[in-house]
Amino acid sequence: MNTLKKRILTGDRPTGKLHLGHYVGSLKNRVKLQHDYDTFILIADVQALTTNWEDPTQLGRDVREVAKDYLAVGIDPKEANIFVQSMVPQIAELTVFYSMMVSVNVLRHNPTIKTEAAQKGYTDMTYGFLGYPVSQTADITFCNADLVPVGKDQMPHMELTRKLVRRFNDLYAPVFHEPEALIQGLLIGLDGNTKMSKSLDNAIYLSDPADEVMRKVRTAVTDPARIRKDDPGHPDICTVFAYQKEFAPEFACELEGACKAGQIGCVECKKRLAATLNALLDPIREKRAYYDEHIDEVEDILKAGTLKAREVGAETLAKVRDAMKINYFK
Ligand code: TRP
Repeated sequence: MNTLKKRILTGDRPTGKLHLGHYVGSLKNRVKLQHDYDTFILIADVQALTTNWEDPTQLGRDVREVAKDYLAVGIDPKEANIFVQSMVPQIAELTVFYSMMVSVNVLRHNPTIKTEAAQKGYTDMTYGFLGYPVSQTADITFCNADLVPVGKDQMPHMELTRKLVRRFNDLYAPVFHEPEALIQGLLIGLDGNTKMSKSLDNAIYLSDPADEVMRKVRTAVTDPARIRKDDPGHPDICTVFAYQKEFAPEFACELEGACKAGQIGCVECKKRLAATLNALLDPIREKRAYYDEHIDEVEDILKAGTLKAREVGAETLAKVRDAMKINYFK
């Protein structure tokens, strides 16, 4: 890892296996960026606890599932530092300091928090849930990241991060870079919903076997007005076509013409899509199967990544304590 490179920090909540939405929205990009940036990837288990705290028994398994997905898609532990949030105590420490610098009202107005709270039916949010964007600020800054690849829904959190960084730097001393967001795309769900997501049950997982991919693609929502094969189709409102554009862009134009002219039916189109997806997923599944068999390697990678994150965190926290004049016994 080259410290002259700019640093990226990004991550995921471990809530189960990753899907094609993660692949399109972030994983593919991370694999590319890892060569040009000093990359830190966090498995946000503390953030997962903000909604799963009552039953954390799955968490250990989910952390490993996410790590296996990372490695299977080609995140290279020699290039990128994969680590577990709860095992880097400096993140928790920094969270406490930032929490002094933000009002409850500001946190309450965060639109992503509001949406998530409504989805979960929270009428009375916990302190930890309301404050997870503060903890996310610590995730990003404990390693002084420059760039944060995230989805659009994370923008309110990025705004808070930048605000807290400016406040810290102005109040105490210029310790942190003001990190920038790198906005990532979204993949629609099989049901045509704007986002592929586990909770909406409209996802194809990276670890789904080939026949499951075929089965799921068959259920994908297409143009409802199209009954017979030779009816002219409307690819612009078709989920399968959206996927074709994403995963087989070289054929999309031809396919669009054929669909509009009623020359290719949905069944055939779906078969082709399933074949494309399975060709993409085959090597990923193969690598994943290797890590299923070698879970000790996965754990060693997480341990080494976490150790490195702690070292970086200790350096940052020494600067933070100096800046805040709370390094009493130095
Ligand atoms: N909130 C992010 C999500 O739900 C996950 C996350 C936690 C994260 N900490 C982060 C993303 C820091 C980027 C940077 O997807």
